[in-house]
Amino acid sequence: MSDGPAHLTDPFGRDIRYLRVSVTDRCDLRCVYCMAETMHFLPKAELLTLEELDRLCTAFVRLGVRKLRLTGGEPLVRRNIMDLVRNLGRHLGDGLDELTLTTNGTQLAGKAADLAAAGVRRINVSLDTLDPAKYRALTRWGDFARVMDGLAAADDAGLRVKINAVALRGVNDDEADRLIAWCGDRGYDLTFIEVMPMGEIGSEARLDQYLPLSILRGRLAQRWTLEDVPLRTGGPARYARVTETGGLLGFITPMTHNFCAACNRVRVTCTGTLYMCLGQEDAADLRAPLRQADNDVPLEAAIRAAIARKPAGHDFVIDRRQKRPAVGRHMSVTGG
Ligand code: 5AD
Ligand code: SF4
Repeated sequence: MSDGPAHLTDPFGRDIRYLRVSVTDRCDLRCVYCMAETMHFLPKAELLTLEELDRLCTAFVRLGVRKLRLTGGEPLVRRNIMDLVRNLGRHLGDGLDELTLTTNGTQLAGKAADLAAAGVRRINVSLDTLDPAKYRALTRWGDFARVMDGLAAADDAGLRVKINAVALRGVNDDEADRLIAWCGDRGYDLTFIEVMPMGEIGSEARLDQYLPLSILRGRLAQRWTLEDVPLRTGGPARYARVTETGGLLGFITPMTHNFCAACNRVRVTCTGTLYMCLGQEDAADLRAPLRQADNDVPLEAAIRAAIARKPAGHDFVIDRRQKRPAVGRHMSVTGG
């Protein structure tokens, strides 16, 4: 184990083992709870190059990170992203336990086999509905059939799939049973996510979309046998086994539960900004130290200084008086 003096421990004794990297803030969809229809994306010149992203991830692996997740935006829309995936794959079994990604699935059909060849074993696919018309409305223009093709390619490539569905009151809560059965049939795990107040999204009122998962779970428990499983990933998910399907069912409840005490993760954006907590504004710039030298000495120093101020926890609130989001940036900046 790489538990030498190098590894990163925050002031609360939490070891940082998990890095999520948003490789682009762009996306080919505009999910209504995530983005406004007209988004201002970062100028390409501000992005870290793929080489810089590789250096950054490699530094974190050297500092004890065991799991890397590429996110976005939509990671697979970044040009030449497979070069980065292939390069990062070299760390697997040599410090890195897992390389994975969160994707909306629209580009998976052409990339699933390459992902598997690079050492990716599992992926998270965001899919909130099984109804093609609803899918189009929720994503503003997405094509459900493309995601199905992508999932078929993932199956063929032997990738394990977990479906992430944001629970939206009055939108897809009536589909929860169907999602469980469908995932069970296809051998996918499923996680429901509470909608989080991140970024301005236009006219949709998030307060109206918010569905506490405690309520959803109570409803599901009338239909399905849910056995708690002690699986803890260091994140906000709690898991149950659905006896009838054998599948894992996760609930990500940042709003109603506090999961911060076991947090083992940090996030970095495509511009090299390190967020020590998804629910706080505090961040550290890693791009300047990355570009300051050919070696990683300034970079490692900046990472350590940032981890030393990782906060104890988040302050998410969907506030009835305050109409602004708790965190100004969109989820697509830091990734889910
Ligand atoms: N609240 C909860 N989940 C969100 N996602 C995007 N924006 C939000 C939000 N405001 C989800 C996506 C995807 C994951 C990366 O984050 O649906 O599953
Ligand atoms: Fe794109 Fe994911 Fe946001 Fe939807 S939720 S717009 S797929 S980043």
